[in-house]
Amino acid sequence: MRSLSQEPVPREELLKQIPGKSALFCALTEKIDSEVITRAGPQLKCIATISVGYEHIDLEACKKLGIRVGYTPDVLTDATAELTMALLLATSRRLFEANRDVYSGGWKPWSPNYMCGQGLKGSQVGLFGFGRIGQEIASRLLPFKPKKITYTARNKQPEVAKKVRASYATFEEMVSESDVIIVCCALTPSTKEIFDKSAFKKMKRNCVFINTARGGIVDQKALHEALKEKQIMAAGLDVTTPEPLPINDPLLKLNNVVILPHIGSADIDTRIQMSHVTALNILAALKGEKMVAEVQL
Ligand code: DGY
Repeated sequence: MRSLSQEPVPREELLKQIPGKSALFCALTEKIDSEVITRAGPQLKCIATISVGYEHIDLEACKKLGIRVGYTPDVLTDATAELTMALLLATSRRLFEANRDVYSGGWKPWSPNYMCGQGLKGSQVGLFGFGRIGQEIASRLLPFKPKKITYTARNKQPEVAKKVRASYATFEEMVSESDVIIVCCALTPSTKEIFDKSAFKKMKRNCVFINTARGGIVDQKALHEALKEKQIMAAGLDVTTPEPLPINDPLLKLNNVVILPHIGSADIDTRIQMSHVTALNILAALKGEKMVAEVQL
């Protein structure tokens, strides 16, 4: 038996090990497509991912073969909302750029314009996605006194929106009116690369663009161009395409971008709970019981 490792399972290893298994504990680093699913064999009852996102799993194939799919919503909502706020503040107040100056000798005596960023007070913030994470981000934004919080989502949920003083905006409105845009939706065929060249062109010049959802929601080439040409002020990304981002990626040459290595839920208690929920999902599926969190197929 292989020793336990936290590295993603190499594809060949997954294909070699999966035949005959009743359940699969996987992460977003593993593509669970019909090849993996059919290779497993007819006894496969459940696929449980240690993530809230499940775009790496072929749901159609699971549905066809009666395989149940478990995931980990809720337990990572707070950690992800918290990280989103940290990334937003780091990007809009230029924390990493300023910190680099301290170490590189760029720190000069105090002067009025040095490292001026953009505060949240009085700003208009647009949330793209208004699920659990979007709502928690909205409630964390309020103490920073934004002028307005808007959200763009399929499900309008006016009662929830009222609690966090958010109002609905169309995609066009959100893109063209926001000082800050935060992407916190799932990656689906309808959100794939929705932030494209034309969306970035409509944004305000002072716009700070934050993505803690999935890299695939953004046309990264278009984002790079928008940042380079200063069509928008800055971007903070916890997710990119691909991951890890190669160190020669052109985004890494820009000063107005902060990139983190997909650490939204990386809080120790959260990760313990995510592991726990994933294991419980598998046990429940094997016993034919209700899972903690099951994707409705
Ligand atoms: C998820 O759960 O989908 C995150 O991206 C990683 O925690």
